[in-house]
Amino acid sequence: MTVTAEAAGVPDLAALQQRAAQRAAERAGGQDRLRGHIVCDGLVRIFKTEGVEVFALQGLDLVIDRGELVAIVGASGSGKSTLLNILSGLDTPTAGIARVAEYDLLSLSARKRLAYRREVVGFVWQQTGRNLLPYLTALENVELPMKLARRGGGGRARRKRARELLDLVGVGHLADRKPSQLSGGEQQRCAVAVAVANDPEILFADEPTGELDEATGAEVFAALRTINAELGVTIVVVTHDHAVAGQVRRTVAIRDGRTASEVRRTARIGADGSTELVSEEYAVLDRTGRMQLPAPFVEALSLRDRVRLNLEPDHVEVRPGDRRERGDEE
Ligand SMILES: Nc1ncnc2c1ncn2[C@@H]1O[C@H](COP(=O)(O)OP(=O)(O)OP(=O)(O)O)[C@@H](O)[C@H]1O
Ligand SMILES: [Mg+2]
Repeated sequence: MTVTAEAAGVPDLAALQQRAAQRAAERAGGQDRLRGHIVCDGLVRIFKTEGVEVFALQGLDLVIDRGELVAIVGASGSGKSTLLNILSGLDTPTAGIARVAEYDLLSLSARKRLAYRREVVGFVWQQTGRNLLPYLTALENVELPMKLARRGGGGRARRKRARELLDLVGVGHLADRKPSQLSGGEQQRCAVAVAVANDPEILFADEPTGELDEATGAEVFAALRTINAELGVTIVVVTHDHAVAGQVRRTVAIRDGRTASEVRRTARIGADGSTELVSEEYAVLDRTGRMQLPAPFVEALSLRDRVRLNLEPDHVEVRPGDRRERGDEE
């Protein structure tokens, strides 16, 4: 639909993504196992409160490959947190398919669910205070999940890994400070290190930059990109921040509990030999062939009720249905 080219001043996304895919393939045991790390098909979540049903997810389809870094955007109430809570094992879907790394999230036993949450996924919350224990230093916060899971080897090995992770997210020099002595952005970068301490396959973050200004938010995003590229962790991050969404290769927009459209950014070699990033927006087509037209398109042509479709050799035309047929004519 829309194509916009940008100068290549942006960090080298293509190279980072390539590295992430390579690391993820190594973890997964080969390129052929790359597809479908996260698969949602017709995912439904209905909340019932005092007899009223809220359809938070209404048949959502989404496939995310191993090693991807995907941003999810959408208006308030569109179902972003509901989706992330399901994928991270905190909530159970009402119907549909939700499969993550071979785990079927609709039929997990309590024991498997706990193992899934401890070993397979990591989580970063929007509220900085929810991610870190206030009375521990940054370093101790990163060591804690390894201690609790009895992982990361002995004390010295755990400490070494915690330091490496803090270095990776750019706050290694603040290892001995407590959260109250760190800025919001620094706390969130520590939170990223805490979330990957036990080497999860997937990291979920629900508006990790929601309480931060744009520049600080960009630093947190840079930390997520580094973790994605260096550790091959698949990352799904919900964000309101469109500038930040522009820093990833793939952004999925959710509307009314469904995936509505997607923006993919790819690197292309321009006529003068320089690399440029090109963003392309796609509508999402579900298995049965349904898609949602973008609201501006619908408004521009006053589309309503019925449209006419024509199949052309390489595209499909959508025209307004003739509403002045018969009785409408006076
Ligand atoms: N526990 C719940 N009980 C009842 N309704 C809920 C519950 N959780 C979410 N909802 C409803 O489901 C819909 C989706 O909510 P959700 O929190 O997923 O939206 P969101 O996209 O994360 O919004 P925001 O951007 O404001 O965080 C909303 O209509 C919300 O009111
Ligand atoms: Mg939310």
